[in-house]
Amino acid sequence: MSDQSFDVVVIGAGPGGYVAAIRAAQLGLKTACVEKRETLGGTCLNIGCIPSKALLHASELYDHTKHGLENFGVKVSDVKLDLKAMMKQKDETVASLTQGIAFLFKKNKVEHVAGTGTITAKNTVEVALNDGGKKTLKAKNIIIATGSDSTPLDGVKVDEKKIVSSTGALALAKVPKHLVVIGGGYIGLEMGSVWRRLGADVTVVEFLDRITPGLDQEVGKNFARVLKKQGFEIKTSTKVVEAKSTKTGVTVVVEPAKGGDREEIKCDVVLLSIGRFPYTEALGLDKAGVELDERGRVKVDHNFQTSVPGIWAIGDVIEGPMLAHKAEDEGVACAENIAGEVGQVNHDVIPAVVYTMPEVASVGKTEEELKEAGVDYKAGKFPFTANARAKANGNTEGFVKILADARTDRVLGVHIIGSDAGNMIAEAALGMEFGATAEDIALTCHAHPTEAEAMKEAALAVHGRPIHI
Ligand code: FAD
Ligand code: NAI
Repeated sequence: MSDQSFDVVVIGAGPGGYVAAIRAAQLGLKTACVEKRETLGGTCLNIGCIPSKALLHASELYDHTKHGLENFGVKVSDVKLDLKAMMKQKDETVASLTQGIAFLFKKNKVEHVAGTGTITAKNTVEVALNDGGKKTLKAKNIIIATGSDSTPLDGVKVDEKKIVSSTGALALAKVPKHLVVIGGGYIGLEMGSVWRRLGADVTVVEFLDRITPGLDQEVGKNFARVLKKQGFEIKTSTKVVEAKSTKTGVTVVVEPAKGGDREEIKCDVVLLSIGRFPYTEALGLDKAGVELDERGRVKVDHNFQTSVPGIWAIGDVIEGPMLAHKAEDEGVACAENIAGEVGQVNHDVIPAVVYTMPEVASVGKTEEELKEAGVDYKAGKFPFTANARAKANGNTEGFVKILADARTDRVLGVHIIGSDAGNMIAEAALGMEFGATAEDIALTCHAHPTEAEAMKEAALAVHGRPIHI
């Protein structure tokens, strides 16, 4: 047993924790980061954002090469899938990025402690080291950045082979003939897209009456239509009662959400993706007196301090969207607050992207939220069918929608479905951070020909004067 003292001990090395640790060290604070996983980077780098995006890109290349090139006068034949090589490229990407975090820790003099951390007193983290033994870390400040885990479902026992969470879905040894996805959210639709492109039939079972329930409904409806056109079967208002593993595959028993006749769906793999819950296991929070909210999230104030002074929390383990960039920004702000600076995150402007094809991206309020809040707004819409670059690229699916305050013209929300939506949303987020009006966007010169011109046209449409429709 050995003791060490730090200004800051971060528990968890995901995008929240590792970024907080680096920022704290940059600010001159003696910092350690405790991580129980073998590699750094948390859910995002190891089993989340990065491997899923690697497979989304690779599967899109395969699908496009097989089905999308002829229109462009490119003839190919004998296109074959080498799933092992695809998985290898994904694993190598993950390995190089997680090693990159280890390099950044060294560069910034963040001490990496490999083990499971427990808060045993206000200023003490005890670590059960991965290679045996214990270490006690004394800390003036502790940052909880332990992230989240997949939500379980009664009657659906994950074995990560036939009944998988996102982690198993990122590493299937062969393409399933039929994949049933439980939950029509981010993971279900992204991983469903990967396996559909590689040849699987995909059925999505969603409890609510629509997929991606948090999205602007007009975008959500369009998204569902596009996915169905791609071959997705989507069963909304449907409840999964049970998933039974059989010799040959899995039988999923479903019934209408409101009750009614049951139906059996036979498939070979089931993906359970009904959300994620904040992960606080083994942390000793009750002993430390750290309060949780009604949904098990660590309660924090606007500076990311918990109910115990000197103990802070960021990322998936606290309130807000479970997104890597939100965790990162909170990590920076939290470290700055600890150092006596003023660190804040504008939670009203957190972009979100579903990396399907087309992509779906949004920032700010949806039309439904504005209606509910009684805000008088104007909407401007522009379809990609009227955008020159989208047309040349054969990516005409979708539109940009801008919602602006009817009185002040200030942009309140931007919602995009389109092939480049994930990149395009950055302009909207930047504009909103600067308090942009729709007119500001409309008056900004956009390069031609780019899909971003659809943003300018949607802004013009807020005032009823788009040029190209
Ligand atoms: P995490 O990344 O979950 O990291 C927490 C870390 O803490 C883990 O490494 C864990 O091992 C460690 N830990 C927990 N308890 C202890 C303990 N007691 N001691 C030591 N270590 C501990 N978000 C996006 O923005 N874009 C995407 O494209 C995207 N894709 C995703 C795809 C998938 C399949 C999944 C599952 C998630 C995806 N996300 C995406 C969400 C994103 O991964 C999370 O929002 C993000 O990782 C949260 O960061 P975090 O630092 O709060 O927690
Ligand atoms: P999700 O919250 O995005 O979607 C879950 C879906 O499951 C919802 O539509 C919900 O209505 C439905 N559902 C809930 N209970 C159900 C039940 N019993 N039966 C059927 N459907 C049910 O959660 P998901 O997809 O698991 O992803 C978790 C989180 O990870 C996301 O919310 C997001 O924060 C993050 N993520 C982000 C990505 C990105 O930024 N591109 C990609 C993947 C994950």
